[in-house]
Amino acid sequence: MGHGVVGSGVAEILTTHKQKLFSSVGEEISLKYILDLREFPKSPLCDRFTKDFEVIVNDKEVRVVIETMGGLNPAYEFTKRCLSLGKSVVTSNKELVARHGAELLKIAKENNANYLFEASVGGGIPILRPIDQCLVANNVDEIAGILNGTTNFILTKMINENMAFDTALKLAQDLGYAERNPEADVEGHDACRKICILASLAFGKHVYPDNVHTEGITKITLEDVEYAASWGGVIKLIGSCKPLDNGLMDIVVAPMFVPCTSQLANINDVFNGIMVRGDCTGDVVFYGKGAGKLPTASAVVADTVDCCKHLKTRKRLFWADSTENNIADYKLSKVKVYVRALADDISSAYTMAQEIFGATSRLDRKDAQEGEFAFVTEEPLPYGEILSGLESLKRLDVEILSTIRIGNL
Ligand code: HSE
Repeated sequence: MGHGVVGSGVAEILTTHKQKLFSSVGEEISLKYILDLREFPKSPLCDRFTKDFEVIVNDKEVRVVIETMGGLNPAYEFTKRCLSLGKSVVTSNKELVARHGAELLKIAKENNANYLFEASVGGGIPILRPIDQCLVANNVDEIAGILNGTTNFILTKMINENMAFDTALKLAQDLGYAERNPEADVEGHDACRKICILASLAFGKHVYPDNVHTEGITKITLEDVEYAASWGGVIKLIGSCKPLDNGLMDIVVAPMFVPCTSQLANINDVFNGIMVRGDCTGDVVFYGKGAGKLPTASAVVADTVDCCKHLKTRKRLFWADSTENNIADYKLSKVKVYVRALADDISSAYTMAQEIFGATSRLDRKDAQEGEFAFVTEEPLPYGEILSGLESLKRLDVEILSTIRIGNL
């Protein structure tokens, strides 16, 4: 269902890798229908197209349905109908899984069907199965990663090629990385959906995106990029989650300074990197292409093969719904930050910043405009205290230009 970037990639792999898939499943995976409202008269698969979902859902021969439509509607209704009839569903639709995953997994369970969504996080990177199966012996202490290919592509182009934000975004759209509405990428919502899926899976309770504090990359400037380099790192959009001792979860999506020593610092272009901190394994890092037609379709086809091999058995993949809020207030989360500001008297403004934030270190960059200064705080403080400290600086006529968290990565 859906013959866009990912869906057409799925159809392509099912065709070009028929023999390979046959060897794995033991019988042919036959692509019976392709649902799309558009016409594809030149496609070699033009005889499979239908505009009518009822044809698919009412066909008893259809055992596995692949949903690559994206968006909530009508994907949500279509998925529920298929699962309710015992048809397994495979998807790359992170918006749907992040919003309704617990409910859809429950319907799948009740109908002895599978609902699999490896492609919803990290594109072609295997990450959900490794967390659910290979790392199951661990208590997960933290998950943190670069979860959005489009923003990582844009930041890489800004950092390495001095490319303007809009030019880099247009390139990412042309390459098929960006969401239909790229605001979901650049404002951090896509990364938020993915960290919610990872958190729900790793900690067993649904984490809803609306409850997660999310910041995008639209305010990042080349000046910030230069200061990050002088600090010894790069700026990356990071999604992270950590279970706290009080049972709540510390979860956030925001741009962060990442030190060059971190594995995540050298993950560039459309690549994603996800670090899982297990109490037995220590850090495990997953790396690969996080967006794009064939990498994402590869994960969808792998789930399809899994469904075909387990038509009568349900995979264990599951998490429970959560009605109570399971997320800690982001203002209580302790962090260090980088601040860039303007003041008439830099020396006294910086002294005031030290009085407010405790130990800090000044950063320099070539060609800084007059009155500009930047520093990083050295003591982790609750984010709410950082915000009120910045308000105090503003009252003393200091103009705050940027505030970016320092990632503990
Ligand atoms: N727009 C998404 C990204 C696609 O750039 O990562 C893959 O989920």
